[in-house]
Amino acid sequence: MLAAMLLMLSTPSGCYYDNEEDRFPGATCDTVNMRYSVEIKQILQENCYRCHLSGSATFSGIPFDTYEQIKAVADNNKLVTRINDASAPMPQDEGLMSLCNRQKIEAWVRAGAPNN
Ligand code: HEC
Repeated sequence: MLAAMLLMLSTPSGCYYDNEEDRFPGATCDTVNMRYSVEIKQILQENCYRCHLSGSATFSGIPFDTYEQIKAVADNNKLVTRINDASAPMPQDEGLMSLCNRQKIEAWVRAGAPNN
């Protein structure tokens, strides 16, 4: 009995904590100084433009072609609401984006959605 307990105590359990990303999803997400022209546009490019860029094959009719257009949904809160709305998510076809992508957009909106 004692031997069994000692064996349990000495069994390495560190494997549960080896991966920082698994333990704290988003812990390594860099949300400092988000720029519209760099980080935000890249996320939009990968996840949104197929439906939100006028002229794209699957255009939704709601363009985010220009800064002013995305700024409008940032300011009226629709942007942050929809990227976090599991029942009506954006991107509509793939469901919620990674937590890190959502945190990046939120950080940019919180900073006033600057045209930087
Ligand atoms: C597969 C197509 C598709 C993709 C991809 C997509 N959307 Fe949409 N989006 C739509 C459609 C269609 C609507 C209009 C219907 C609705 O509101 O659900 C919409 C509406 C919206 C609205 C509400 C606009 C308003 O004024 O009411 C926001 C905000 C939005 N999308 C943001 C995004 C963002 C941000 C992404 C990328 C992360 C994205 N969408 C990706 C199709 C898409």
